[in-house]
Amino acid sequence: MRLNKLELRNYRNYLELQLEFPNRLNIFLGENAQGKTNLLESIYVLALTRSHRTSSEQELIGWQDDFAQIKGRIERKTSELELELLLTKKGRKSKVNHIEQKKLSSYIGQLNVILFAPEDLSLVKGSPQTRRRFIDMELGQINPVYLYDLAQYQQTLKQRNLYLKQLSEKKQTDEIYLDILTEQLVDFGSKVLASRLLFVKKLEYWSNDLHSKITNQKEALAIEYAASIPLKGESVEEIRSVFLAELQKNRKREIFKGNTFLGPHRDDLIFKVNQQNVQTYGSQGQQRTTALSVKLAEIDLMKEETGEYPILLLDDVMSELDDSRQIHLLETIENKVQTFLTTTTLNHVEGKMTVHPDIFYVQQGQIERKET
Ligand SMILES: Nc1ncnc2c1ncn2[C@@H]1O[C@H](COP(=O)(O)OP(=O)(O)O)[C@@H](O)[C@H]1O
Ligand SMILES: [Mg+2]
Repeated sequence: MRLNKLELRNYRNYLELQLEFPNRLNIFLGENAQGKTNLLESIYVLALTRSHRTSSEQELIGWQDDFAQIKGRIERKTSELELELLLTKKGRKSKVNHIEQKKLSSYIGQLNVILFAPEDLSLVKGSPQTRRRFIDMELGQINPVYLYDLAQYQQTLKQRNLYLKQLSEKKQTDEIYLDILTEQLVDFGSKVLASRLLFVKKLEYWSNDLHSKITNQKEALAIEYAASIPLKGESVEEIRSVFLAELQKNRKREIFKGNTFLGPHRDDLIFKVNQQNVQTYGSQGQQRTTALSVKLAEIDLMKEETGEYPILLLDDVMSELDDSRQIHLLETIENKVQTFLTTTTLNHVEGKMTVHPDIFYVQQGQIERKET
């Protein structure tokens, strides 16, 4: 898939911007604080309606303005699409081919993006929350049903925790309503978990392949899903019965503490290189390679799931990688995916690739394309 055209209005420090991308590789060159990340972010937001940097929509709107608009023309194998996102103080509006989409799940997934930013290098080292968020964002893009189940799960979890709190404070005594919420939580939770387990298997398959290439066959990467409940099987039904039994076992403690301690919202991923947990035993280099392999694996995974290659957004990552990883990264993306890359210097890319890039200069919210 390709993004052929991007238009911004009042997005962060871009008042008005129109760019076309006839080429596969697009490099945005500029000093710090000029708007490079903002530009990649806008493409990410166009795809997912949410930013990777902030949960506040307000932040994305230019300081002097009360709305922001992002438009993009997408070319897929068999169709062309116009996507449009309007952000206002009251919320967001999304359109596909000028028709408003009321449901998030009918909008997300039209444009598939993979973003790789320096903070992604902490996928391995960071908190379990980082890794759960990673799964949710990636899986959500390829599986709208997952997004729906997850939203329902989170909604039910909130209600259940609220009710548990009331029980713990003795403001409520009726446990029948807790049973209902528990059933609902287990229903959505087991679907979420089953989807995640399958996703992690596929992710492992593709990342192991890459990891082995990047390390010249020296390292094998394994990814395990660490569930907070003791799984006996991977089907929705099998998960369901274990999840329900575990919640029943823990009911007293839950009521005492007013919280739900088990479920997909408490799960984690474990990365292992040559059977050793990279998070605890890996060198910084191994942790970076792992993060890189996992991110790049998504390119093939998405292709397999959706039939199209996603768009790759690389924000300032070249400088964080050593020479051999830079070359592997560039080799993986060359010829395959349309790429938007930001950098403060061309040193990291020059002479390392065979495709000809389009270069754009970014300065204070203005972008100029280098004449070729
Ligand atoms: N909502 C906003 N309205 C106007 N300017 C903004 C907004 N949010 C951020 N900026 C400006 O954007 C600039 C940072 O852009 P960024 O893309 O992060 O820079 P970089 O080129 O280093 O990646 C800063 O100058 C900041 O003041
Ligand atoms: Mg930046």
